[in-house]
Amino acid sequence: MSTPASTIFSPELAARFDKLVTIYPVRRSALVPMLLYAQDEIGYVSDAVVAEVAVRIGITELDVRNVLSYYSMLRTKPAGKYNVQVCTNISCMLRNGYGILDHCKEKLGIGNKQTTPDGLFSLEEVECIGACCWAPAIQVNYDFHDNLTEAKVDEILEEYRAKAAGSQQ
Ligand code: FES
Repeated sequence: MSTPASTIFSPELAARFDKLVTIYPVRRSALVPMLLYAQDEIGYVSDAVVAEVAVRIGITELDVRNVLSYYSMLRTKPAGKYNVQVCTNISCMLRNGYGILDHCKEKLGIGNKQTTPDGLFSLEEVECIGACCWAPAIQVNYDFHDNLTEAKVDEILEEYRAKAAGSQQ
């Protein structure tokens, strides 16, 4: 367990990690938060992320990978700029969750766990995202969208497309 000589993270995130490992009674408890923060910054949990996090926590890379494989919200491959997560658990399923998923597939031209060629969207079928009362629901990165219809999905995707186009200007 140590601070590595060099880091793949931004100075801000590296400083955050230095602190994070000191606030839990057990250093290893910082593992999942660190992987989530790392994923937000790097885009996914790369081999380099696994290696550095293992050093910072003081565990083996295999320990990190065992945790990594357990949590579906942690990715080992790059996702699109906007990761569209469609819930198909019971409440959403009963209110057309699969219809919404199929619509997203058709609209984006990709399947589950795939990314559009322009890298803008990726699509993922996920377990309950805690918006059951407002099913069917999707999550795009950290934004929730609920009470969906196919038409609403179209509007939402267009909004993200416009946002991406705006940020490139
Ligand atoms: S079942 Fe879809 S949000 Fe809970």
